[in-house]
Amino acid sequence: MIKIKNIGVATTGGDASGMNACLRAVVRTAIYYDRKVFGIKRGFKGMIEGDIEEMDLSSVSGIVNRGGTILKTIRAPEFKDIKNQQRAVNNLKKFNIDGLIIIGGNGSLIAGNILYSRWKIPVINIPASIDNDICFTDYTIGFDTAVNTALEAIDKIRDTATSHDRIFVVEVMGRNNGQIALEVALSSGAEAVLIPEIKFDLNKICDRLVEGHKRGKKSSIIVVAEGAARGTDVAKFIERKTKIEVRVSVLGYIQRGGAPTSFSRALALRMGNIAVELLIAGKYGKMVGIDGNKIIAVDIKKVLRYEKRINLRDYKLINILSI
Ligand code: F6P
Repeated sequence: MIKIKNIGVATTGGDASGMNACLRAVVRTAIYYDRKVFGIKRGFKGMIEGDIEEMDLSSVSGIVNRGGTILKTIRAPEFKDIKNQQRAVNNLKKFNIDGLIIIGGNGSLIAGNILYSRWKIPVINIPASIDNDICFTDYTIGFDTAVNTALEAIDKIRDTATSHDRIFVVEVMGRNNGQIALEVALSSGAEAVLIPEIKFDLNKICDRLVEGHKRGKKSSIIVVAEGAARGTDVAKFIERKTKIEVRVSVLGYIQRGGAPTSFSRALALRMGNIAVELLIAGKYGKMVGIDGNKIIAVDIKKVLRYEKRINLRDYKLINILSI
């Protein structure tokens, strides 16, 4: 077993609120165990370019409550090139980094697996993405914050929708999945949700909306995941079909920023702490996750073999409760 003395840490892919809290836990836990920590800037781009700096206790002070990531992040498709991987590995060697913690989403798991399997770098991945689209963890860092931001916005939209007897289409993030849409549709009492994982029939949805309005519903909210359809197209269709006034709100990037909720922070702090302890204990090639209220570690390879499923019960429940 290698004795890990110097730990590198990077945030990668789309940012997620709680990444900073996670960095705080990684840096402080590493220093607590007498290890050095190096921050890699702009994810894999910084790794390839050698943009790496030692961090100390004060590097992470005052950030537990801040959205974004002080290390910055970027999507780096150039990491797929083996020559760039070699450059990245050379830079890790140059700084004597013998263990790596990668905080990010799906792309960072693929890269983590490459660094561990091909280049034999001891790696731990921490799942951070607003999308909550990673298996073997009930939640990713940032998901709860994104959902609560969207929920607050939808509650406000409901007020104005009710004043005007309108239908609102609210588009939320989720290019390839409907986890945010589903969760926020349920908690906001939405009338319908459109997600990429489940085929939908807009005609049927329109019939339900008309029925509801005839019965005296004062407003209706349709939550659309960006990967399922464009909010504006859905709104046009519904207005044409139902003859009820429809407005659209695209919530967009506000879901990615802002102070992390207590849940996102605590998850990030727990995961960051365990990631360092796993590295020190010689347990590499793993992703940390949360299962119920237990923090677990699963082989990255195994995580990559599965796709997260939608909770069909919740999908059905939204329809049951919005009759
Ligand atoms: O981080 C996940 C995510 O926010 C998706 O929900 C969204 O579709 C995508 O990132 C947007 O990515 P970008 O930052 O590249 O515009």
